[in-house]
Amino acid sequence: MREVAGRVLVEAAREAARHAHAPYSHFGVGAAVLLADGSVVTGTNFENASYGLSLCAETVAIASASAQGRLRDIAAIGVIGGALAKDGTISGQGLVTPCGRCRQIINEAADLSGTNVDIYCASADGSAFRHFRASELLPHAFGPADLGIR
Ligand code: THU
Repeated sequence: MREVAGRVLVEAAREAARHAHAPYSHFGVGAAVLLADGSVVTGTNFENASYGLSLCAETVAIASASAQGRLRDIAAIGVIGGALAKDGTISGQGLVTPCGRCRQIINEAADLSGTNVDIYCASADGSAFRHFRASELLPHAFGPADLGIR
């Protein structure tokens, strides 16, 4: 059941990756956030000519959910990525897992929602698929409690 839900999320992320703005790396990433009511909010990586300003797909998806007032409702996130072709498709065998900064951002959502967010990661060719919990990818996280919040 969990794997099915994860694979559905990853496919929503793949669809989102079609809109990746990645003219510098040519590496497209899609992310799909599952909310408590079953709705899905997606994001893609969003690069910039000033390279260091680029945003990851996971960050965009979570910020988008937050902008809809849904930061506390995040239950899971699916991530997929690979070489981005001109037609918007991605390819490759490598499993894409959230970068360090995205793990910290996922932790913020996990903390606020009180959920050890499920993270489903896949390779573009579907050969690799893994499930993690937020606390596994970022153990001993710095979070709101360290600032005396809640
Ligand atoms: N990227 C993501 O969107 N998410 C990750 O977790 C890893 C990396 C993006 C950033 C950049 O646009 C491209 O992938 C290559 O690093």
